[in-house]
Amino acid sequence: MSQFIEEVPDQKVVKSAIIFGATGQDGSYLSEYLLELGYKVAGVIRRTSTDNLQNIRHIKDLELIEGDITDCAFVTGLIDEKKPDECYNLAAQSHVKTSFSQPILTTEVNYIGVLNILEAIRKFSPDTRFYQASTSEMFGSTPVSPRLENGQQSENTHFSPTSPYAITKVAAHLLLSVYRDGYDLYACGGILFNHESPRRGANFVTQKIVKWLIELDKWRNGNDMDTIYTGEDHIFDSVPNKPAFPKLRLGNLEACRDWGHAKDYVKAMHLMLQQDEAEDFIIATGTTHSIRDFLDKAFEQFGILDWEQYIVIDPKYFRPVETEYLCGNAFKAREKLGWVPEYSFDTLVEDMVESEISSQILGN
Ligand code: NAP
Ligand code: GDD
Repeated sequence: MSQFIEEVPDQKVVKSAIIFGATGQDGSYLSEYLLELGYKVAGVIRRTSTDNLQNIRHIKDLELIEGDITDCAFVTGLIDEKKPDECYNLAAQSHVKTSFSQPILTTEVNYIGVLNILEAIRKFSPDTRFYQASTSEMFGSTPVSPRLENGQQSENTHFSPTSPYAITKVAAHLLLSVYRDGYDLYACGGILFNHESPRRGANFVTQKIVKWLIELDKWRNGNDMDTIYTGEDHIFDSVPNKPAFPKLRLGNLEACRDWGHAKDYVKAMHLMLQQDEAEDFIIATGTTHSIRDFLDKAFEQFGILDWEQYIVIDPKYFRPVETEYLCGNAFKAREKLGWVPEYSFDTLVEDMVESEISSQILGN
């Protein structure tokens, strides 16, 4: 029995979990979700000089443990000490474009980090069930493949990674079956398609757009869009002496993503660890939208229909190689896990915009 398990007065056994990457978007929602289910949860956080706790500061009962996934001694000691029932690895250098400029760091965190956990589990806690955050980015350029059925990627679609990030994730994903087959570990890869939320990092495209719109709205300060005119890089107001507002600078608007809500997706992570046998699952909504579609919907929330004049296409935001099209088939998850997402594309965008407006009003 796990040393981390405690007996509660009514004799119910409380399950224990460790989450690597607890401060991130998914880590924060998963922490909340598992605590709601009655788990005892420990979240691994990095020591940083500036605040990285904004997503989890409000979560009571989450035990925080400082450490880095690339530090084998730390990871091994933690798994050996806690011997958790479940271990979720959500820690990653998760930005695709950054992986082109920092490929070694990305490999150390996204691949070596996973090896550290798997080895620690194998040696010191083989009953621990392990979830690895795999990704739709692993499919990369597969859409051009004749093997893609119905325009959707499934568990049978082959990987064709187009970034250092995706390659590290494929490598880590392949380790899972090695540890399953070779050592009989319960290790699952959740192949999650893009998922967003009000807690999404500011340099992912959805949140970048939403945050810019909030700033534009503050700058407008109730002013009608008719009184605003645009230059090459800035937006101007007819109010005398008011400073100009910088346009939103973006890269490739043609890429398509299957965007879901992180709150739905963390539930699937948990379900994957409750099955009789460890398996990999696609988690997706089955619908895809371009960045243009996202701009349509987000600007519409602010009553702006002609968004093109507020955007500058900046080569700085293009990747050396792009994953152009992602759309997932989550049939297996629906059938075996009973997982169905609650949020749609529209309600996701609305939630992101409304939450950002509320947090501005509350001054968070
Ligand atoms: P995120 O917000 O970027 O969170 C990443 C987490 O990893 C943060 O808590 C970060 O800590 C932590 N981290 C980074 N390097 C670390 C290290 N060396 N040691 C320990 N922790 C480290 O990412 P997310 O969107 O929640 O995604 C969670 C996981 O799912 C990631 O592995 C990502 O690659 C994968 N994924 C995400 C999506 C998506 O659309 N969101 C889709 C598929 C897969 P700091 O807060 O200190 O930076
Ligand atoms: N970040 C960003 N910034 N992306 C932009 C921009 C911009 O200014 N302009 C256009 N894009 C395009 C990117 O080129 C990409 O095609 C798309 O918007 C989405 O980019 P991101 O939001 O950065 O997400 P991602 O799809 O590259 O990666 C996310 O999803 C993966 C799952 O498919 C991350 O969460 C990864 O960690 C995750 O694995």
